[in-house]
Amino acid sequence: MNFFPSSTQEIPPVGSVPRHIAIIMDGNGRWAKKRFMPRIAGHKRGVEIVREIITACTERGVAYLTLFAFSSENWRRPPEEVSFLMQLFLRALEEEVSKLHENRIRFRVIGDLSRFDPKIVALIRRGEALTADNTTLTLTIAANYGGRWDMLQAMEKMLAAQPEKRGGFTEADLAAHLALNYGHEPDLFIRTGGEQRISNFLLWQLAYSEFYFTDTLWPEFDAAVLDLAIASYRTRERRFGRTSEQLAGASRAAAASKNA
Ligand code: IPE
Ligand code: IPE
Ligand code: MG
Repeated sequence: MNFFPSSTQEIPPVGSVPRHIAIIMDGNGRWAKKRFMPRIAGHKRGVEIVREIITACTERGVAYLTLFAFSSENWRRPPEEVSFLMQLFLRALEEEVSKLHENRIRFRVIGDLSRFDPKIVALIRRGEALTADNTTLTLTIAANYGGRWDMLQAMEKMLAAQPEKRGGFTEADLAAHLALNYGHEPDLFIRTGGEQRISNFLLWQLAYSEFYFTDTLWPEFDAAVLDLAIASYRTRERRFGRTSEQLAGASRAAAASKNA
């Protein structure tokens, strides 16, 4: 079940640190090209940045970090690149999961795993089980993930679970079957690499997320750019459909009750 408040049904708490950051890590290929290196060199460097950003998010008290690693459309890339990305994923699973566990990080993967090598799937399941009770940060890797795939599979599961409810389903019924049903909706969505699009990432959950686009290529992303994104997030007025005046009224009422 999804026990997290939905941004369209309730007004989620807004703090100075985003509870959930979702990132489209884009620009690996262009970074490598600029250096006259093969695209795969950019992906390799990209994995190192992932490590740095996990640490930075832990230090900043972020509860959920969701990283788009491979989209359902990325199979359209040249076979050599796809196969290198799979090898990189396999190696990262072999080498990094125990380190995540040492740092008390919970590890999850969302996406359609049916196209992955069984060896990769086994490592994912083992890593998820090993780290299931960790509470420092929940790291989710979106692999062969597509927002449309996610909504469709959730609808299928929802219908199978309660066929008699047809005509009376709620948003919460569907959200309970989404791949990311164990986390808040992202407060902050970051896309590196200069493009300003969602590319079929978390279509449902980005309903009220704050967006931050940076030209920085993922292999050049670091804690300083993350802090710029968080600083920008802090300047946003999250209204969830309400007016500014309502927000001012609510904060005046909160201050008055604190002083009473
Ligand atoms: C993101 O970088 C990584 C993946 C999609 C796997 P890209 O490989 O898309 O890099 P660009 O956008 O071509 O520079
Ligand atoms: C989105 O990047 C997917 C990942 C970062 C994994 P793409 O590079 O695949 O997106 P498009 O094709 O530019 O939209
Ligand atoms: Mg790209």
